[in-house]
Amino acid sequence: MAIGVFDSGLGGLTVLQAFRDRLPEQAFVYFGDNANAPIGGRPAAEIHDITRKGVQRLFDAGCDLVVLACNTASAVALHDLQVDWLQGDRRVLGVFVPVIEELTSRDWGDNTPPTHTGLRNVALFATPATVESGAFARELKFRARDVEVVAEACVGLVDAIEAGDMVGAEALVDAHVASLLERLPEPQSAVLGCTHYPLMEDRFRAALPNRTRLVSQPEIVADSLVDYLQRHPRFAQAGDVVYLTSGNPAQTSRRAELFLGHPVPFTAA
Ligand code: DGL
Repeated sequence: MAIGVFDSGLGGLTVLQAFRDRLPEQAFVYFGDNANAPIGGRPAAEIHDITRKGVQRLFDAGCDLVVLACNTASAVALHDLQVDWLQGDRRVLGVFVPVIEELTSRDWGDNTPPTHTGLRNVALFATPATVESGAFARELKFRARDVEVVAEACVGLVDAIEAGDMVGAEALVDAHVASLLERLPEPQSAVLGCTHYPLMEDRFRAALPNRTRLVSQPEIVADSLVDYLQRHPRFAQAGDVVYLTSGNPAQTSRRAELFLGHPVPFTAA
C-alpha cells in the first residue's frame, strides 16, 4: 500500500522529497492537481471540493493514508473532511499540525492553557486563503502565550512557480518579504506556510534578516510522518514512487525538474 501525497500542483513535491529522504524504501503516489492550481485564491467551498476529489483520487489509487502536502487544503478543508466525509480505516493528515507542534514544543492533543514558549513573534508567508482562514494564528495562540503572528498573503507567487517563471517568482518573494518587514522588521521565526514556497527558499533566506529562523516545513512534516508510521505500521510498505497530474504531464515534468533539479516523470491522473 502506497502513501498518497496531495497538492494543488508542484509544491507538495518539497514535502515528498523530505519523505523520501527519511523513508527511501516507502511506496508513494503523488497527485498534483495542476489543472486546478493555484487554489489559494479560491473560495473555501471550492478548496473543499478540490481537496476531497484529490484525496478520493489517491484512495482510488490504493492509498489508505493520504497526506495533504498543501497548507491551503490543510487549513481550510482538512478538519471538515475528517469530520464529515472520512469513514473506515482510511486516514488523511495535514502539514499544519506538525509545524505548530514544533514551534510551540507542545503536542497537538495537549489542551492545557497557553504557556510561555519563548516564541515572541512569527512571520507567516502563505496563500490568501490560508491567511484568511486565520487557522495558523488561532492554533498557535491556543498553545503559546503572548505570541504575535504577522502574515503576508503572497498573491501571485504560486501562479509564477506553476508557470515556471523563476524571475517573476524571485521578484514576488522580494516584494512580499519587504511588505512583511515593514510591519515586523526583525521576525524571530519565519514560516513558509505554503508548500510551493520552499522551492524559492534561497530567495526567502536572502531577503529575510540573518537572525530570523526560517522554519523548514517539509522536514518537520517528514519527521512527523516517520513518527506516525511507527505508531501505525499498517500504512508502511516498500515500493516505487508514482507521479500523477491532472495537468499536462510533459509540461508538469519539465517544470518540476526546473525547480527540483532532477527528473520527475509525471503521468496523466
Ligand atoms: N502548495 C499549496 C499550499 O501549501 C499551494 C496552494 C495553491 O495552489 O495556491 O498552500
